[in-house]
Amino acid sequence: MCGIVCYVGRRQAKPILLDGLKQLEYRGYDSAGLAVADGQSVAYHRALGKIVELERKIGDIEINGTTGIAHTRWATHGEPSERNAHPHRDMDENVYVIHNGIIENFHILKRKLEKKGVRFRSETDTEVLAHLIAQNFEEDLEEAVRRTMGQVEGTFGLAVIHRKVPGRIVVARRGSPLILGLSKDGHFAASDVSAMVRHTNEVVHLQDNELATLTVEDFSISTAQAKHIERSIETVEWRAEDAELNGFPHFMLKEIFEQPETVENAMRGRLEPGEGVPKLGGIVPVWESLKECRHIVIVACGTSYYAGCVGMYVFEKLTEVDVEVELASEFRYRKLNFPANTFIIALSQSGETADTLAAIREAKRKGARLLGIVNVVGSSIARETEAGVYNHAGPEIGVASTKIFTSQLTILTLLALLLGRHQNLSLTEGVEAIRALQELPGQIRSVLAQANHIEAIAQKYYSANNWLFLGRKFNYPIAMEGALKLKEVSYIHAEGYAAGEMKHGPIALINPEMPTVALAPLDDMYEKMVSNIQEIKSRRGPVIAIATEGDERIKEMVDDVIEIPATLDYLNPILAVIPCQLLAYYCASFLNRDIDKPRNLAKSVTVE
Ligand code: M6R
Repeated sequence: MCGIVCYVGRRQAKPILLDGLKQLEYRGYDSAGLAVADGQSVAYHRALGKIVELERKIGDIEINGTTGIAHTRWATHGEPSERNAHPHRDMDENVYVIHNGIIENFHILKRKLEKKGVRFRSETDTEVLAHLIAQNFEEDLEEAVRRTMGQVEGTFGLAVIHRKVPGRIVVARRGSPLILGLSKDGHFAASDVSAMVRHTNEVVHLQDNELATLTVEDFSISTAQAKHIERSIETVEWRAEDAELNGFPHFMLKEIFEQPETVENAMRGRLEPGEGVPKLGGIVPVWESLKECRHIVIVACGTSYYAGCVGMYVFEKLTEVDVEVELASEFRYRKLNFPANTFIIALSQSGETADTLAAIREAKRKGARLLGIVNVVGSSIARETEAGVYNHAGPEIGVASTKIFTSQLTILTLLALLLGRHQNLSLTEGVEAIRALQELPGQIRSVLAQANHIEAIAQKYYSANNWLFLGRKFNYPIAMEGALKLKEVSYIHAEGYAAGEMKHGPIALINPEMPTVALAPLDDMYEKMVSNIQEIKSRRGPVIAIATEGDERIKEMVDDVIEIPATLDYLNPILAVIPCQLLAYYCASFLNRDIDKPRNLAKSVTVE
């Protein structure tokens, strides 16, 4: 969704801001803009479409200035257009504001401002901020922003410059992430570290209802009540090259191919092979309660939700805990009873998904304990949960989540194994699990080695308008994830179903034009999957099976087979999802889709 990048320092701001915006492109956006101040005037440019449109518009115009703010917008209030792109200005063209989030009382504020004679130039909620800050400004820009924070309801990560206040940027947050970046050449603020990681690894996380003032030499943080805050500096582990394509045509493909390493990273330092027990340092603060826990609710959205669904089956297999999985967006509408010592596990790549944040806040209100499995260090979900485990998977840039899914499955398995070993799981089972986990990176490599074969299958079927994905038990969520991946990046309609449900409806769709991906590894669901495959074949539906290496029987039945190495039944999803990711990728590639930035989608969904 929207992205923010700001710089005040010794260097020219324009190239830093344009480069920062490019690093934020993966979040999804429809327009972009910037404002750069040179101490006297403000250069101000906006464009509909991609950053290249903004660059084209700026062309050879000389923009000098070492203080600037820039934004990518994903429309919420008002159509995507240049007029609605950020920054927004007040009437006197002194105040320039960029904003992520939603100002919920903007209609009331707008009406009041209009009565005072303010003329609005856009349809956005953000524009009220520019006018309010201008009205609240006397001499101190930070104070004007603080007063404005008291007038608005809703969520914001915002940044402001004032034509008459040179060399100074004020930023504030409530509900939308904002991170400060510190370097010897100046200071940054961004909604996402990737926008500044080329310049600095030293960051400070702003928290809700805080403001910060940045100058070339200094930064200071204070609360909405003007109380000064000292916050320690953190070092982010992401490297600039993590956000480069490194020879891959798309980030999605690069991230699919990173999975041997990211699964390894999810386990690094966390396995005790001899004891058959993982070590998870991040949950030590809650361990005494967690080990007694008998009820877990996993909350998440999208791909993270499907990882949670697999997690439910894994916990049921390895522990004595009752597990439910809830879509975070529905969680608040349920009337759930939490037995004492219920733990909520929030799964989130970004750690900023608004629905997941809202779900954990609601769960906390009801007395549940909170754990997070999060990729982005220092993100809101990481901070608002009591304890948790980081993925350490590096930035995921492709909008379609891939490497985080397998990393989440790995961590959920470690957590289930840890609890299980303190409950009913034997040493032998624990040792066997760890041995199988250690084999995963090599096994993922062998699935990836079939990329050309999978590409050829995609070439055969990419023109089909509808696909069906079927799986049972551990692989039922993989059917749903496989369908989601295909929809997201290729725009082909796909349904993910529990194979047992096929006869209750979807079988009506089967015909020679609709391919079915059948997840049929050798496990206790195998015979039932074989029956489903035969039902499809007898109706002349093409079947692509994802099956265990050496399964000759299935080859006789289906049109195409993608083999995955044999592993424990509950680890099959980590291998089985990879062919699904590759099928989606290659179909999208044959259809010339914008794979890393599919239409209408945003990487981090920060509105409910
Ligand atoms: O950052 P999160 O894991 O909380 O994001 C959740 C979903 O928005 C995300 O998985 C989304 O469904 C992706 N586009 C899936 O590829």
